[in-house]
Amino acid sequence: MDFDQVKAYWEQRAGSDSSAQSTTMDFYLRDIEYRVVSGLIKIYLPKSVMDVGCGDARTTVRLSAEHPEIAFSGGDYSASMVKNARGNISAMGIENLDVMECDVFQALPVHDLGMIYTTRCLINLPGWEMQQAALNNICNALAPGGFYVMIENFVEGHENFNAVRRDFGLPEIPVREHNFFFEREKLIDFVSDRFDVLEEVNISSSYYLASRAIYSRICQDKGEEPDYFDSHHQYASQLPFCGEYGPVRMICMRRR
Ligand SMILES: C[S@@+](CC[C@H](N)C(=O)[O-])C[C@H]1O[C@@H](n2cnc3c(N)ncnc32)[C@H](O)[C@@H]1O
Repeated sequence: MDFDQVKAYWEQRAGSDSSAQSTTMDFYLRDIEYRVVSGLIKIYLPKSVMDVGCGDARTTVRLSAEHPEIAFSGGDYSASMVKNARGNISAMGIENLDVMECDVFQALPVHDLGMIYTTRCLINLPGWEMQQAALNNICNALAPGGFYVMIENFVEGHENFNAVRRDFGLPEIPVREHNFFFEREKLIDFVSDRFDVLEEVNISSSYYLASRAIYSRICQDKGEEPDYFDSHHQYASQLPFCGEYGPVRMICMRRR
């Protein structure tokens, strides 16, 4: 898919589904992401935080409620996502979160931020060239010393995980046609000119092994379809992070 087709896909998702699954079917993965960003906010104590590609802002709404002392913002290029986000913000009575329409491929309409995070946003940009431009735009919107918490999908963990699926007698999970996963070495090499990398961890490895290898195999044996709301997913999401067997990785970096 090209840029416009991916954007149309998200417009359509937002217009047709305002449930907790409109930006991802994987409800518990978003819960892991929320806990990871929340932990980093508590360590680095930024005064301002932006969620780029915030979707309907479910993660940011939780973080804003938890940290009323921080000025939060959210940006998304889908007008319908921003509309849904505003609905969620007002339903929760959140006062320290503003959302706006913006495209991470263009210069962001903000500056001097203390922290930016993305959760599976940049994988929607079709190709490494566009992703590099987006990383530059994120860097430029941060204050010197500001933090970028990148939570995105990578090919290496995805391939390791599919090898486990094959060993379990399960079909591989393909990369979805609107997603373009990162290659870790290329990414680290690129960001190292602008950022100091502070921490990186695969946050999906134990979760994927338990939910999409063990639980999926149990479902296959029983002839049932896996259910994202099944308690296997819930318990899997509470496992400690270990291994490199899932696509989603968190890299925390600080702008020089
Ligand atoms: C997988 S969803 C994740 C949404 C949210 N971060 C979450 O975790 O629930 C990806 C989001 O990124 C947004 N997005 C994709 N490309 C974008 C771009 N170039 N600029 C701004 N938002 C973008 C989509 O509209 C969509 O809402």
